[in-house]
Amino acid sequence: MALLMGLIGSESARHFHDQGYDVWGIDNDMRSFYFGPDASNTWLRDALVKNMPRYRHFDTDIRSADEIDAIFARGGTRISAVIHAAAQPSHDWAATQPGTDFSVNANGTLNLLQAAHRHTPAAPFVFVSTNKVYGDRPNSLPLIELDQRFDLPPEHPCHAGIDADMSIDQSMHSLFGVSKTAADLLVQEFGRFYGMFTACFRGGCLTGPNHAGVRLHGFLAYLMKCALTGSLYTVYGYKGKQVRDNIHSRDFVLAVDAFVRSPKPAAVYNIGGGRFSNCSILEAIAICEEITGRPMNCNYQERHRAGDHKWWITDLGPFQADFPNWSPRHGLKDILEEIFHCNFGRWKAEAP
Ligand SMILES: NC(=O)c1ccc[n+]([C@@H]2O[C@H](COP(=O)([O-])OP(=O)(O)OC[C@H]3O[C@@H](n4cnc5c(N)ncnc54)[C@H](O)[C@@H]3O)[C@@H](O)[C@H]2O)c1
Repeated sequence: MALLMGLIGSESARHFHDQGYDVWGIDNDMRSFYFGPDASNTWLRDALVKNMPRYRHFDTDIRSADEIDAIFARGGTRISAVIHAAAQPSHDWAATQPGTDFSVNANGTLNLLQAAHRHTPAAPFVFVSTNKVYGDRPNSLPLIELDQRFDLPPEHPCHAGIDADMSIDQSMHSLFGVSKTAADLLVQEFGRFYGMFTACFRGGCLTGPNHAGVRLHGFLAYLMKCALTGSLYTVYGYKGKQVRDNIHSRDFVLAVDAFVRSPKPAAVYNIGGGRFSNCSILEAIAICEEITGRPMNCNYQERHRAGDHKWWITDLGPFQADFPNWSPRHGLKDILEEIFHCNFGRWKAEAP
């Protein structure tokens, strides 16, 4: 099994190793290049190497087609599944270096697809895509403003959530959204054109205690880190009433597992916490304050982030129709409590 590391990659590595697979992880810690040393995932990599005897790490850049091909040539059809969770993951960072962002997210994905197709074409290939493929189209929904959040009226057809039929065309994506959309379409095409068992999992916010949350990426982890350390947290626009759904990395990986066991070509799913696990920023701040027992240090900037969603809740119906035994198990408060307890010591030590 070949995996790309980080929050989702490391959670997948642990899960599939526990299932008895040999796991190969590919990650060059480029996260610390994007966001600085605080964001590094080397602690995750080191824990995997230390604790999992059948884990092997490749410190390889997915932009290097030759090196990626060599890894897949070595594994051949023994690579029984590929989980592609490597990315430049931030809108804001993408705008500073669009070329690097595109080469990692789009070209890197193409390199992995080509290598998988060449050396292990029957292996399911799961790509961790994003709801940013829809650009800011969700903002055209007729939202109503409530006291603590935006929401859709109960009678609206999308009240239960947004499904993958929403158009990905003619909206503002941010450069990150564009590079991920290019990758998403490539993954679909290798499914449609070559018949590979590809899946795009278009996530909302993916989270969990292993997220190295930083200002530019990792919403709940960074929020809780600020709550715990007393650092300033800035809310960007929409009065803090923008709604995101949040899925625990374990729930996400169980969804991946379901697909790997019963794959089909060119699948596309929206995946997230759905109505079960979502919050506005104001609501998430209130929960963090309840857990830490003290007020957060927040300020507000009127301007929202370009392409940011005012409201996103995933319709889990289509995924659950294909995989009826799957549903998210970790609710929002549980997730925040776990992030708090697992990181308490480490973040307290880093506090200014
Ligand atoms: N976390 C979220 O809220 C969220 C939401 C929607 C989609 N996603 C997508 O999910 C995937 C996983 O996200 P995550 O939160 O685990 O991110 P992450 O940053 O924790 O993990 C991504 C990993 O990719 C590695 N990487 C980056 N560039 C690389 C390169 N050129 N070569 C090799 N490795 C490289 C990084 O070092 C990092 O460890 C990404 O594709 C992201 O776009 C994440």
